[in-house]
Amino acid sequence: MATGVPKTKWSGNNSDPAQVNGLPEQPLDVSLSYEGKQAREEILATTPAATRVLWQSDKGENRLYYGDNLPILASFLNDDAVREKVRLVYIDPPFATKSVFQSRSQSDAYLDLLAGAHYIEFIRQRLIILRELLAPDGSIYVHLDENMAFHIKIIMDEVFGSANFRNWITRKKCNPKNYTRKTYGNVADYILFYTKSDNYVWNRSYEEWTPERADKEYEYVEEETGRRYKKVPVHAPGVRNGETGKPWRGMNPPPGKHWQFPPKTLDEMDARGEIYWSPNGNPRRKVYLDESSGVPVQDIWLEFRDAHNQNIKITGYPTEKNSELLARIIEASSNPGDLVLDCFSGSGTTLDVASQLGRRWIGIDNSPEAIGTTLRRFATGLERMGDFVTQRRNSPVQPMLPNLDVAPSTVMKDFSLLTTLPYSGDLDEALKQWGNSHSL
Ligand SMILES: C[S@@+](CC[C@H](N)C(=O)[O-])C[C@H]1O[C@@H](n2cnc3c(N)ncnc32)[C@H](O)[C@@H]1O
Repeated sequence: MATGVPKTKWSGNNSDPAQVNGLPEQPLDVSLSYEGKQAREEILATTPAATRVLWQSDKGENRLYYGDNLPILASFLNDDAVREKVRLVYIDPPFATKSVFQSRSQSDAYLDLLAGAHYIEFIRQRLIILRELLAPDGSIYVHLDENMAFHIKIIMDEVFGSANFRNWITRKKCNPKNYTRKTYGNVADYILFYTKSDNYVWNRSYEEWTPERADKEYEYVEEETGRRYKKVPVHAPGVRNGETGKPWRGMNPPPGKHWQFPPKTLDEMDARGEIYWSPNGNPRRKVYLDESSGVPVQDIWLEFRDAHNQNIKITGYPTEKNSELLARIIEASSNPGDLVLDCFSGSGTTLDVASQLGRRWIGIDNSPEAIGTTLRRFATGLERMGDFVTQRRNSPVQPMLPNLDVAPSTVMKDFSLLTTLPYSGDLDEALKQWGNSHSL
């Protein structure tokens, strides 16, 4: 496997790598140019939305907004509880699919008709304000598909700085399809992960070892203890002049390398039996399976498909995301008590999972179907996908509150419901039913 040596660590025959082939020292910024691109200052001066409270719990710490997210986000610029306080933003905006999405009950949920430069500017306006709302150690995840991910990556580089790009995550979104088109099946979508700065909240995620994978990776068993281990080098790339560059047991580190530990520490490790000596006298370090936290999660996620079998629990909102996907993101990039924001909250997946993980949240959506679905989710939880099929067969009308076995943890009471739209009663039905199941 070829490994590049970072320019700063290169000790080749030219001491100034910037001068090689006349390459300039600093890369030039790249930006996307299109008609209708507003100045950043103009976007930050968006008139804030006036909000009206439709319902509030005693604490009302979490907030669900019904309205266009741009003026609502702009109003947070003047809100000390939100500006620079958001630890994590996750957004799953429309993907520019030029489609109308309907829920399982066949009601229109939302339009995804913006395309091209109009779409890019729509997302950019929101990203510019979101950056201001993020805490200095905050993170943002933007969920997209192959339609616009490349364009929005460039916009995110502009808004957050390319140095703050962390990952381009590929997620397997569904089971393989039987395509009749002359292309490979399309089962992936993408999540762009950026942070506001270098110093950000990060709780590394691990996958558990499967027995097969563990046996393959940790192929040796220590006779005396029965512990499974693998052998790794005791040296690392780069020349050092300190202790780790000195000989150990009469051996220098290989050319261009240094010992991973000072000779004294290597002696102690050897005394504990943690060094393996090959028949020709080469030391290797033993790394034990029982000391591993698991397999660090990489940037291809295969295990979080959206509703894909009859047993999975859902709300029935179109493009609803897998709750476990959100749990991974929320756990990795925030801590209990932190504020999580999703301004395209749809059926409320982010809000529900954030709440279950002890985070505070703000959700925004401008679709009455989305807000109604979120309220039902808070009142009654999720429903097995199979149950939707059964109900559809028995009754053409989807009941507002299906009869469910609900885990108490999914019932959520602590939030305010606010609107910025001239309210004409579109949420009354959902509110009434929600109110019926909980004394407001
Ligand atoms: C892909 S869906 C989000 C689905 C969500 N992640 C879930 O798990 O249910 C996108 C959502 O963005 C909402 N939306 C689109 N434009 C909006 C806007 N300008 N303001 C607020 N919400 C908007 C739509 O109503 C839709 O619910």
